[in-house]
Amino acid sequence: MTCPVTASVDVTLVAPRARVLTKIRCRYEETQCRRAAHAIWDTDIAGRLNGVRTDVGSPTISPMQLVLRPFAIEDEEAAVSAHLALAADGYTNFLLGFQPGMPWLEWLAHIECSRIGVDLPHDRVRADFLAAEVGGALVGRVSVRFALNEWLAREGGHIGYAVLPAFRRRGYATEMLRQAVDLAHQGGVGRLLVICDEDNVGSATVIERCGGMLEGTAVNENGTAIRRYWV
Ligand SMILES: CC(C)(COP(=O)(O)OP(=O)(O)OC[C@H]1O[C@@H](n2cnc3c(N)ncnc32)[C@H](O)[C@@H]1OP(=O)(O)O)[C@@H](O)C(=O)NCCC(=O)NCCS
Repeated sequence: MTCPVTASVDVTLVAPRARVLTKIRCRYEETQCRRAAHAIWDTDIAGRLNGVRTDVGSPTISPMQLVLRPFAIEDEEAAVSAHLALAADGYTNFLLGFQPGMPWLEWLAHIECSRIGVDLPHDRVRADFLAAEVGGALVGRVSVRFALNEWLAREGGHIGYAVLPAFRRRGYATEMLRQAVDLAHQGGVGRLLVICDEDNVGSATVIERCGGMLEGTAVNENGTAIRRYWV
């Protein structure tokens, strides 16, 4: 079968948002031509997946097998249902910037623009937004901000993460933060600010296990007490 769409997976040089969206749509169309597309798609993400796509998640899989990789077209169902489930539980930012009903490709374009720093709203900095995968299952997500604006310096920090309820207490958040810290260092960030709510014992433990040093506590704009750590 001949693929009618020219294979192009390099979006890093593309500036306008519309062209990023077009490129991502091309990827989607390519996947309709499975035979041709597989090689392209694999080349694109294989390095970032580190070849860890194995069997479906098992409770015994070690956190060391967790990989952070870009969200992909195939993640739509799992990611959107995770987003809606966590939103119903009060955590509204699992997929940052996602609104119910938003086309998945549009959201992928949104985070790709954020990753390459294109068309950023005035209150946003360049940031990577990555899926955490273990044994083929989406277990969480992590956000890595490569700079701090006023709000991030006060209460957001460089890194944010969330683990799906079914996958908690397996060490995944600790491994996600550990890998995210490496990515931030590779992206040129020195010391990293990581912030959690004062009463979020799980997150505070994760940060401390990754070497976080408590700078102190503060109160955010919602009046919630927070803990500020440097890693
Ligand atoms: C906080 C959160 C990220 C922890 O994820 P996780 O994958 O369960 O964390 P880990 O398994 O790496 O936990 C490491 C340690 O933290 C502690 N911990 C984790 N969750 C805890 C909880 N609910 N209560 C008390 N301690 C907890 C435990 O000591 C745990 O180690 P142990 O299981 O060996 O005892 C997860 O509960 C979550 O996504 N919550 C909602 C979103 C959120 O709060 N994100 C952080 C924003 S700063």
